[in-house]
Amino acid sequence: LARGPGEADLAGRHVVISAGGTREPLDPVRYLGNRSSGKQGFALARTAVARGARVTLIEANTGLPDPAGADVLHAGTAIQLREAVLKAAADADVVVMAAAVADFRPAEYATGKIKKKDGQEPAPIKLVRNPDILAEVAGERARPDQIVVGFAAETDDVLANGREKLRRKGCDLLVVNEVGERRTFGSEENEAVVLAADGGETPVPFGPKEALADTVWDLVSSRLG
Ligand code: CTP
Ligand code: CA
Repeated sequence: LARGPGEADLAGRHVVISAGGTREPLDPVRYLGNRSSGKQGFALARTAVARGARVTLIEANTGLPDPAGADVLHAGTAIQLREAVLKAAADADVVVMAAAVADFRPAEYATGKIKKKDGQEPAPIKLVRNPDILAEVAGERARPDQIVVGFAAETDDVLANGREKLRRKGCDLLVVNEVGERRTFGSEENEAVVLAADGGETPVPFGPKEALADTVWDLVSSRLG
């Protein structure tokens, strides 16, 4: 592989990273959310700054402090995240979708708080699909040489599901995490395999999220012109 951490191999490059998890409002006090902490995305942002990149970090509901040296934008819902990512991706060399995007959102938003009624079962919540931001970015490529990276958390048949997802999304790299016992959400460590569209497979042993981030940048760096 090309170069490693400590060298400005991303100097002059604009990288866009999404981090955290979207929240889809149901009424003024409730939302559908997920357990993504945003720590992996923030580690990607810090390491990219250290390697010389111009970094746009699009953050969703993490509550984490802005990393030094990155331009930070905020998005709440999948629709808002899509807007921000597509806009930033227009002049990006690299787009990394580390955010957990809600697959569905409530079909309707209740402008007043949903109240329970005595003796009545709750009404079912109708959901609709959210747009697939990663597939859209990878499919449309604002620049022909743009590198697009996705993430996937899988519980079963991790590699087979990862390969299938990489193909379906059309991205260049897919970081596949096995979600399980010690690999809990919100932890400081991660273990993964990075799958590449060209067939490459890079295992990353259990360790700090910065180490996984640097492996991603090594793989990206070697693919940039
Ligand atoms: N993703 C996205 N937009 C969505 C859903 C997912 O951009 N609406 C991105 C995530 O940011 C991640 C990748 O797609 O980089 C994989 O997410 P994942 O939830 O594993 O994939 P899905 O296609 O939603 O498949 P699944 O049914 O397994 O959840
Ligand atoms: Ca999903």
